[in-house]
Amino acid sequence: TSRERLLVVANRLPVSAVRRGVDSWHLEISVGGLVSALLGVKEFETRWIGWAGVNVPDEIGQRALIKALAEKRCIPVFLDEEIVHQYYNGYCNNILWPLFHYLGLPQEDRLATTRSFQSQFDAYKKANQMFAEVVKEHYVEGDVVWCHDYHLMFLPKCLKERNRKMKVGWFLHTPFPSSEIHRTLPSRSELLRSVLAADLVGFHTYDYARHFVSACTRILGLEGTPEGVEDQGRLTRVAAFPIGIDSDRFIRALELPQVQDHMKELKERFAGRKVMLGVDRLDMIKGIPQKILAFENFLEENPNWRDKVVLLQIAVPTRTDVPEYQKLTSQVHEIVGRINGRFGTLTAVPIHHLDRSLDFHALCALYAVTDVALVTSLRDGMNLVSYEFVACQASKKGVLILSEFAGAAQSLGAGAILVNPWNVTEVASSIGYALNMPADEREKRHHHNFVHVTTHTSQEWAATFVSELNDTIVEAQLRT
Ligand code: UDP
Ligand code: G6P
Repeated sequence: TSRERLLVVANRLPVSAVRRGVDSWHLEISVGGLVSALLGVKEFETRWIGWAGVNVPDEIGQRALIKALAEKRCIPVFLDEEIVHQYYNGYCNNILWPLFHYLGLPQEDRLATTRSFQSQFDAYKKANQMFAEVVKEHYVEGDVVWCHDYHLMFLPKCLKERNRKMKVGWFLHTPFPSSEIHRTLPSRSELLRSVLAADLVGFHTYDYARHFVSACTRILGLEGTPEGVEDQGRLTRVAAFPIGIDSDRFIRALELPQVQDHMKELKERFAGRKVMLGVDRLDMIKGIPQKILAFENFLEENPNWRDKVVLLQIAVPTRTDVPEYQKLTSQVHEIVGRINGRFGTLTAVPIHHLDRSLDFHALCALYAVTDVALVTSLRDGMNLVSYEFVACQASKKGVLILSEFAGAAQSLGAGAILVNPWNVTEVASSIGYALNMPADEREKRHHHNFVHVTTHTSQEWAATFVSELNDTIVEAQLRT
């Protein structure tokens, strides 16, 4: 059985390394939608190339890490501290990430960012070259090379310059913003041109794909066609491939005794109260302060609910070296403290806020006992938490309140209650609506979403992307 070889190239490997000694490493599963979805992909002979999230300056450490990662079919790209600072913290997470999510550049840092822009972009290109080097070392003719996300927009060009025959796809896990937003980037053209070197370019939604094509037509003056973007007869195929989850993995986990026990504990712990749940990386785009303020508004307006509902917010620390994320952490802590002080009693508080990640089984148990999940992203490429919640709700049939600015609103919109997260009173009244929803309406809504989540899986997503990539290459050969 020779399965097709797939090289997945992403900034973040599915495991992150923690050093335990001179030559000993501990590997932890990385948190994030990209990793979750790609771990569900099984029909390919997959190798991962990426950063292990740690600086390894010495050769002994590097050699030991290469060996430890090889067992997970992962190949590390070693980035030194200065590159990580300029490329990852700077260009990726302080510039591209907020811009692609319509948050603009950090307010206070605007001038500092403007000044450091060029050096950060240089580091970005250099980092992308380093990824390309590692791909080159491990590439075997015929491999499909699948590049991921905003960290690696320069990579398709680096790869094609080295080898025109390489099959190169690129997929963006975030929104691609309106061309009016993309236009403000000093490096707007260079980035678009580099991405266009790929054979196939994919996005979560049709809107993001359309934004990308119009950026190419308006900013580069190229021709947009229904197939993609054309440049002097060469076509880059552009299309939407909505991602999914490995829904069976969640459904199976709920049957495990340890998960069942955990569910029982949680039910006892919150007996007599409805459970509302938020699960997010602690990121500006997730609208966590907005969500908590809406919950406060709901408690204000509905005194009879005050001791009958609890909000559990899992806020996974992320990108903690970026000042904007540090500010968000203290802002959220302040709001949570204020509201718990205001509405808490000697025995109970309305908000349980956890600054940590949960393991897979704990997360499944939590999803399963939840009555109302709250996803209030200000913008979000897709949002897999909403999918995972639905997958775990076969018996409870709880309600999903979902931001209309998450990609998932386009697939789960009919079953979820859609909200504008900026409108705190609208979210508050949706919370009331969800908590009071009759069983038959909950069942109908749940069923709609459950069917979608269990039929649009991550496996299917990856298979579709790769087969489309292969077709694109065959068609291009026929044309020349
Ligand atoms: N997640 C996790 N541990 C946690 C919290 C979240 O592994 O404690 C996972 C969650 O199951 C989901 C992913 O992190 O698969 C978040 O993906 P999503 O698309 O919702 O958002 P992203 O973090 O990619 O912006
Ligand atoms: C989002 C991005 C991913 C990223 C993840 C976690 O899902 O699309 O590329 O891996 O967030 O962020 P981090 O910076 O820790 O990799």
